[in-house]
Amino acid sequence: MVSVILGPGSTELGRRVAERLGVESIPVELRTFPDGESSLRLGGQVEGEDVVLVQTCYPNQNGRLIELFLILDAAKDLGARSVTTFIPYFPYMRQDRRFRPGEAVSSKTMIKLMEAAGADRLLTFDLHNHEILKWFRIPALEVSAMPAIGEHFKRMGLRNPYVLAPDDGAIHLAEAVAKVLGADFTSLEKHRDTTTGVVETSSKRLEVKGRDILIVDDIISTGSTIVNAAGIAEREGARDIYAACTHALLLGDALAKLRIAGVKEVIGTDCIPGSVGLISVASLAAEALRRWL
Ligand code: R5P
Repeated sequence: MVSVILGPGSTELGRRVAERLGVESIPVELRTFPDGESSLRLGGQVEGEDVVLVQTCYPNQNGRLIELFLILDAAKDLGARSVTTFIPYFPYMRQDRRFRPGEAVSSKTMIKLMEAAGADRLLTFDLHNHEILKWFRIPALEVSAMPAIGEHFKRMGLRNPYVLAPDDGAIHLAEAVAKVLGADFTSLEKHRDTTTGVVETSSKRLEVKGRDILIVDDIISTGSTIVNAAGIAEREGARDIYAACTHALLLGDALAKLRIAGVKEVIGTDCIPGSVGLISVASLAAEALRRWL
C-alpha cells in the first residue's frame, strides 16, 4: 500500500499529488509548545506501507526542516517500509560550496541530515545547482517545472513569444519552456557582486520588437535579476513582459519592484505555496514518483 503524508509545508500540493497517484493521504497534526518547540502526530497508519512525504522547506526553512526530520523519523519508527521524500523547494540549495574559508557547505549538511532521519529516496524540483545530487547516497531525482510553466503560458496565448533566461545558468530552463511554446530563446549575461549583492546585466540586442517576452528562472528572490532582464527587454521593444519561475521567494518588495520594471505578471509554482504559486507541479511530481512506487 502507498499513501501520501501531507507535510505542513505542502498540504495542498500533497493532496494534489495523492489525487494524481490515486492513493490515500495522511494528515499531520502540528502543534507548537509555548517554548517554540514543534510537536507533531501522524494522523494515519504507516506500518508496512511505502509512504510518500511531501514537505516543502520555504518559507521558514529551519522550522520546516525540523518538521521534516520529525515526520521522517516518526514514520520509520512507526514501521513504514519506505519513505520517499518529495521536497519541492530544497532548503539551503544556494549554499552549495564554501564561498569563504570556514563556511558551512549547507546543502551537503541538509542531505546528510535527511538521509540520517530516514529518507529512502528523494525527489525535488529545479535545484539551483544540479551538482549537489552527487552528494546523495540514496536515489535522488531532480525534475523541472518548466514543462508545466510552458503549458501555462501556451494556454495564455502569448503573441509571437520569446523566452529569455536572465543569466547563462538559466538557459536550460528557457530552452525547456521555449520548446513547449515553439518559441525562440536566448540568455543574458549577469554578474552579481558577492559583497554588495548588486546585480549587473549586460545589454544585448534582442529580436523582440512587438513580441511578448517570458523571462524564466529557477528562483526569484529579491527580483533584481528579473528587473534587469525586463529593462533590457523593454528597451529592445518587447510588448508584454512576463516572469515565471519554479520558486517564487519574492523577498520584501520584490513584487512591487518587478511591476515597476514593467513586468505584467509574475507567476511561480506550488513548490512554494502562496498567491503567486499558481502553476501546479503535482502531475510532474506524480509521474516521477510512479517510477519508484
Ligand atoms: C541565481 O543564479 C538564480 O538562478 C536566480 O537568478 C537568483 O537567485 C535570483 O535572485 P534575485 O531575484 O535576488 O536576483
